[in-house]
Amino acid sequence: MSVETLIQTIPKAELHLHIEGTFEPELMFAIAQRNGIRLPYSSVEALHTAYNFSELQDFLNLYYQGMNVLLEEQDYYDLTWQYVEKIARQNVVHTEIFFDPQGHTSRGVAFETVLNGIFHALQEGERQFGISFGIILCFLRHLSEESALETLEIALPHQDKIIGIGLDSSEVGHPPAQFQKVFKRAHEAGFYCVAHAGEEGPPEYVRQALDLLNVARVDHGNRALEDPSLVQRLVDAQIPLTVCPLSNLKLCVVDDIAEHPIKTMLNHGLRVTLNSDDPAYFGGYVNENYLALANAQLIDENDIIQLAKNSFHSAFIDDARKKALLAKLDVAIVQRTDSA
Ligand code: ADE
Ligand code: ZN
Repeated sequence: MSVETLIQTIPKAELHLHIEGTFEPELMFAIAQRNGIRLPYSSVEALHTAYNFSELQDFLNLYYQGMNVLLEEQDYYDLTWQYVEKIARQNVVHTEIFFDPQGHTSRGVAFETVLNGIFHALQEGERQFGISFGIILCFLRHLSEESALETLEIALPHQDKIIGIGLDSSEVGHPPAQFQKVFKRAHEAGFYCVAHAGEEGPPEYVRQALDLLNVARVDHGNRALEDPSLVQRLVDAQIPLTVCPLSNLKLCVVDDIAEHPIKTMLNHGLRVTLNSDDPAYFGGYVNENYLALANAQLIDENDIIQLAKNSFHSAFIDDARKKALLAKLDVAIVQRTDSA
């Protein structure tokens, strides 16, 4: 069995995915047209050409511009449904997706419009393809903690649809320490808590996410590798890192995919998972992220299986679902050995 086939056939979970980052240019143009909004690009190709980033902020500028065309519940449904159809073809059996409500409510779109569109598409994905899911609300860290607290208040009546909260957007200059109150409130309300840290920001931000925000997972976490005692702590506590290789490449966190630190992470015994972050902007969904590392000879078949296992061990799911997904993975592994 080729490595491509192995990646394609094993069941896996995706745990770091911004739904607004799945907005493919074709769909963006179609929704812009139906909402009577003009995009500042003459064509889908022109938009594609603009996807050249030298750092996180370059990407975020386009990401926020893109999401501006989303207005109606149907828009959020269509966006999410396109992602669901994509991952169904990639054997993703569980997904936990981020959304950025402040990027929508600040333009006058109701929180419920956003959430219901996303939720109903994921529900339909569970019905049609058996893909379980969780929705994680992210606070934009370039905005104030007051704005995050207001957003949390709006979210509280929707806890039946939202499993967790996270922290994203421009990292440097916006340390986790600035969001202690809102994370404390979220913990008290029973949300799972995660945060982007160590993507561009220093190891100290990863420490703050652990110490001050009490996160259960760190999104990215690459720069934790600069601090051996922090690495040891992440290993000892088996705190998952949701790593996104093609994102790291496109945002120049690494200069070349061959320089991605995945092997170092695995060798340390870190609980690493592979994810796509913003696949429409970074050139690949979850399987393409696995494949990019495999093609660069950074991960082998055993690593691929380990990474898929890690994805289930790191998911916010109950023990019964975890057991079922790990069993599904075992079946795929046995079938691979049988067919070899
Ligand atoms: N929002 C969407 N993608 C992001 C990323 N990779 N880092 C921070 N904020 C984001
Ligand atoms: Zn992200």
